[in-house]
Amino acid sequence: MSDKKYFVTTAIDYVNDVIHIGHAYEKILADCYVRHLRGLYGEEKIYFLTGTDEHGQKVQKAAEAKHLTPQQFADEIAKQDETELRSLHISFDQVKDHGRFFRTTDEDHTKVVEAFWKKVQDAGYIYEGEFTGLYCEGDEAFLTESDIVEGKCPNHPNIELKTVTEKNYFFKWSAFQDYLQDLLHDNPDFVPQEKRRNEMLAFLDRGLEDITISRRKDAVSWGIAVPGDPDQVIYVWFDALINYLTYGTEKDLWNDETQIVHFVGKDILRWHALLWPAMLKAAGYKRPNIIVAHGFLGLNGQKISKSIGNVIRPSELVEKYGVDPVRYYLLRYTRLDDDADLDLKHFEEVYNADLANKLGNLVSRVAKLCESSGYTSNQLVPTYDDLAKDASIEHINAFAFSSALEAIWSKYIDEANQYIDEHKPWELQKSGDTKNLSFVLERLINTLLEISVLLSPFVPETSSKIIKQFSQKQIKAEAPLFPRI
Ligand code: MSP
Repeated sequence: MSDKKYFVTTAIDYVNDVIHIGHAYEKILADCYVRHLRGLYGEEKIYFLTGTDEHGQKVQKAAEAKHLTPQQFADEIAKQDETELRSLHISFDQVKDHGRFFRTTDEDHTKVVEAFWKKVQDAGYIYEGEFTGLYCEGDEAFLTESDIVEGKCPNHPNIELKTVTEKNYFFKWSAFQDYLQDLLHDNPDFVPQEKRRNEMLAFLDRGLEDITISRRKDAVSWGIAVPGDPDQVIYVWFDALINYLTYGTEKDLWNDETQIVHFVGKDILRWHALLWPAMLKAAGYKRPNIIVAHGFLGLNGQKISKSIGNVIRPSELVEKYGVDPVRYYLLRYTRLDDDADLDLKHFEEVYNADLANKLGNLVSRVAKLCESSGYTSNQLVPTYDDLAKDASIEHINAFAFSSALEAIWSKYIDEANQYIDEHKPWELQKSGDTKNLSFVLERLINTLLEISVLLSPFVPETSSKIIKQFSQKQIKAEAPLFPRI
């Protein structure tokens, strides 16, 4: 067996507010991928990191509005975020010492950020300068001309851009223009989605400019101080991106034996695909192997936003519908290259059609037949690895989660339901044809066990329930997995 390890991360969420279902969508994608890798290579080989990005002006302001210190405020939101992720069964701490809910205010992180800064500075890629620009407090970033649409930040059209002049430190991003161009051209796997890779190349074609990586302490006090200059605070991205390295070096993962995979939203791909590799190169570390970008999730056709007032927390949906229907919908009815929408009417239709009528019904039909015929089963549960050649597993390898689920439904679930309709096992039971009945039931049980193993990365709770039910000798009917709504 190979010694290769896998280190999968999500973006860490700002703590100016509790995460909504849009942030959680990314965590579900990454969790599905992690569970798939655990199935293929064993849980000891896989590491999973998620967490919160706690410094910066946005958090400082949100805390002030609540009359709390930034730390108190961040503690409160981080705790709630963690609870939200747990409600979705995001398995960052399922395997001991193989994952973490990371907070950028954790003590170990500050030390790594400071050491990283010094390395980049010693290598000559940090210099002092003066900067005037239009700053968006929503993005915590100065915007370039090409970012600005009709005088506004496209991500935060309600927040007015500010003209800001500052003395601060710069990172010589421009020195990495050729390196990044070659990286993207020569390694299509680095940003595996062609559309996203082209967006990054187009950005590079406009020419990289150096970037400010600190702010005045009197403007932003909530952050890590620049080593050797207590009047300056490290800019949030130069702090946040390093979260991966803090954990990665702690677990001895930042090396060529580890496949490092970052899941991020399309809005922050630039920082991950262009800034982060340049920072790492400057400090003498390897780059991440793969960066997967997803589109934005809307709700009922609208952007999810506080000002629209349509923010839904993951736990609210889980409470109403159960965890696996939420995971299923977001993995089945979204594609990474496009923006997605959680349409609640469609969600309920799909719940009834795909989950209650197809999967749930298949499970209860087979279980009832086994119970009423007194069939004694003797089936072994396949391992995930046994099924590694299945099309659905190949699809996950290519981050095509929805194609994987489509394939499981059409190849296994629809076919099994059809097989029952065609072979009419209830008639075999009635006529006492136990030989043919056993043959039909054995095939169905076998298929159900394969289905549940293939579904384990997507809907882990449902998968375990089906495995438990159908690995018994005397299979019994149980309460419906997905009561119709
Ligand atoms: N703190 C930075 C990330 C630093 S990573 C070193 C940040 N935080 S965020 O809270 O604004 O967003 C976190 C992640 O959630 C990003 O990947 C972002 O794209 C994603 N999403 C935020 N809203 C989303 C949707 N409505 N839909 C899908 N993803 C969304 O950026």
